[in-house]
Amino acid sequence: MSGPKRYYIETYGCQMNVADAELMGGVLKREGHVRVDDPAEAEVVIVNTCAIRDHAEQRVIGRVGQLNMHKLERPGVRLGVAGCVAKELGKELLELAHVDFVVGPDSYRHLPEVLDRVDEGERVVLDRFSRSENYEDLEPYRIERCAAWITIMRGCDKFCSYCIVPFTRGREKCRSPEGILEEVRRAVQDGAREVTLLGQNVNSYRSGDWDFPDLLSAVAQVDGLRRVRFTTSHPWDFTPRLVDAIANHPTICEHVHLPVQSGSDRILAAMRREHTVAWYRERVAMLREAVPGCALSTDVIVGFPGETDADFQATFDLMSEVRYNFAYVFVYSPRPHTPAAAIRDDVVPHEAAVERLEALNALQRGIGTAYLLEKVGTVQDVLVQGEAKRGLGLVAGWTEQRETVVLPGDRALVGEIVAVRISGLSGITLHGEVDRTDSREGEKLLELAMLDASA
Ligand code: SAH
Ligand code: SF4
Ligand code: F3S
Repeated sequence: MSGPKRYYIETYGCQMNVADAELMGGVLKREGHVRVDDPAEAEVVIVNTCAIRDHAEQRVIGRVGQLNMHKLERPGVRLGVAGCVAKELGKELLELAHVDFVVGPDSYRHLPEVLDRVDEGERVVLDRFSRSENYEDLEPYRIERCAAWITIMRGCDKFCSYCIVPFTRGREKCRSPEGILEEVRRAVQDGAREVTLLGQNVNSYRSGDWDFPDLLSAVAQVDGLRRVRFTTSHPWDFTPRLVDAIANHPTICEHVHLPVQSGSDRILAAMRREHTVAWYRERVAMLREAVPGCALSTDVIVGFPGETDADFQATFDLMSEVRYNFAYVFVYSPRPHTPAAAIRDDVVPHEAAVERLEALNALQRGIGTAYLLEKVGTVQDVLVQGEAKRGLGLVAGWTEQRETVVLPGDRALVGEIVAVRISGLSGITLHGEVDRTDSREGEKLLELAMLDASA
């Protein structure tokens, strides 16, 4: 090995990629390499990429070109591409003259050898899938302490007709429940208050006799853990047992991200989503009945080939009816390898798709704001995440429903769950002040104080 290096990883895409960056960090740390936050200080620069839409892919390729300036300024700097574009384009990326190495999502364990080979003058591409690699034994190098991402499964078997993920991440691979629970315990020992269980299809998790509700319930009972989240759920695998788990464990946050993609059965079938709108409505009703007040968010694609005005109207109507707390709306982007990309008929013109996107975003802004305004005047438990981006003497955190709250405070509050009286809203950010006397958390603190006093 050619000695410890300073490395910098820049991550795009979903939370799986964020967690993978921590995994790469763990692999590199084990070999003595040191993480830095500024590419200008790094000897190894890695762009951890996303291929979900063409725009995302072009953006990261552009960014790789920009980061080449560090090689020009300081010969000896190595530039690598990781993540989904690394898998998608593989050795084609070497056509970008400045790229020294390409590592796909199943090859992160080999990063140290890759760096050695690059030092010896090779340009390296490791982009094969592995049926077994799930990084079970690797300790991620967590950047954030109070909220930990825990990848419980990798890949996706659903093959929705528009989606590149099964081709960039491969088939589903689930970790063992023992390994996951052990990682959760260690994260809690290291200061995590909240964990998010991650997978492209988190609720299709299965390992031996364990299904996702079993795993979620076990995680929810780990000592010292205050909040558990999970993402992303597929409606098809959203079962009554999962709803029961959410209802029965107070540590499981009342927020579910349940992408619907479209409100039209015709389009859902063309997307190969495996469920109908009626099925989706039933899941939402079941969840809301068992967990009233559960926040719900979604992903929607507009402009899928063949989407008529009536199909779009059905999506609009479904969103008005369900009233999501939050929605990510995307314009359909044809992706390599995917069956939908071959559809040539009834392609929706880009401008029409953008209009639909804007209409849904406008609808959602109104609905989302109404939910946030309902919070004004209430007391919410907030996990303080860190200093607020804007404003001195302010910290930011999130509620159980995942709304952002800014409040006066300093670093001492980071990692605490505090009861906050919400006083106002600007944009999508709630504002408030600590109020320890009136909330679940506050009650717990008071109880503890009384126990202390009586002891
Ligand atoms: N596994 C998750 C989501 C993964 S990708 C799930 O199935 O819900 C995140 C979101 O990107 C998807 O929910 C979808 O709304 C969007 N997306 C995926 N492929 C896309 C494409 N080709 N064009 C536009 N949006 C896409
Ligand atoms: Fe893509 Fe569908 Fe898998 Fe989600 S479930 S990652 S949208 S193929
Ligand atoms: Fe993007 Fe890959 Fe995630 S394509 S959304 S980074 S799984």
